[in-house]
Amino acid sequence: MTAASAPEPTVGEAAPALHMAGVRKVYGAGASAVVALDRADLDVGAHEIVALVGPSGSGKTTLCSIAGGLLAATDGEVAVGGRDISGLSARELTDFRRTTVGFVFQFVNLVPFLTARENLLVVDELAGRRRRGRDAARRADQLLDELGLADRGGNLPAELSGGQRQRVAIGRALMNDPELVLFDEPTSALDSKTGDQVVQVIREEMTARGTAALIVTHDARITHYADRTVSIEDGRVSG
Ligand SMILES: Nc1ncnc2c1ncn2[C@@H]1O[C@H](COP(=O)(O)OP(=O)(O)OP(=O)(O)O)[C@@H](O)[C@H]1O
Ligand SMILES: [Mg+2]
Repeated sequence: MTAASAPEPTVGEAAPALHMAGVRKVYGAGASAVVALDRADLDVGAHEIVALVGPSGSGKTTLCSIAGGLLAATDGEVAVGGRDISGLSARELTDFRRTTVGFVFQFVNLVPFLTARENLLVVDELAGRRRRGRDAARRADQLLDELGLADRGGNLPAELSGGQRQRVAIGRALMNDPELVLFDEPTSALDSKTGDQVVQVIREEMTARGTAALIVTHDARITHYADRTVSIEDGRVSG
């Protein structure tokens, strides 16, 4: 018999990939202070793809940076995969970034003197996973293959096209099986055809893995495919 007052079972209910509540971010102080986020609330469910749109200067990059532990909020709650990150030390944050989140930026920042394949493998080394070298290599090769880069693994970033570089960045963001991938305008620096390929890769990779994503974008190809689109204006999220 089940009592009417029994709590809902929580087993199997994954924590939200991202929970932000009442998040404020103020840059600077005094007369020059800028309020970039003003009590922003945002949840991204486990496996959910959320697009974030808003005008220039509305706080999108600030929000992503805080969600990924690159920047500390002035105030408010930030939890990733059910884990509160607001009180983590610098060292713990570094560990959190290496193991729990992935980043893909507008202007891809690959390590210029490493090949595409090495740019993926370096993630595993930095995370101190001590994944057996062969496992990491297998994973890197599998990702490069899925991303259509099987024959470009030995090339340096400077020898790749813009879309290929962005695909390497996506592979790098996925190397450690993150719970949440943060994309900041991943297609805005690409021409339309290259952007198509990158959109397709994002969709396939996120769907196949069930990885949650927050995607800052003005690209209708992405907002159409996202589970939900939220807007940000003057540091406040709605939608
Ligand atoms: N390091 C900083 N110091 C001071 N002000 C900053 C800093 N970074 C951002 N800002 C300010 O905070 C506000 C939000 O910036 P943010 O970069 O988050 O906007 P955005 O929505 O990503 O804009 P864009 O679409 O142009 O990339 C802006 O007014 C910006 O000038
Ligand atoms: Mg920005």
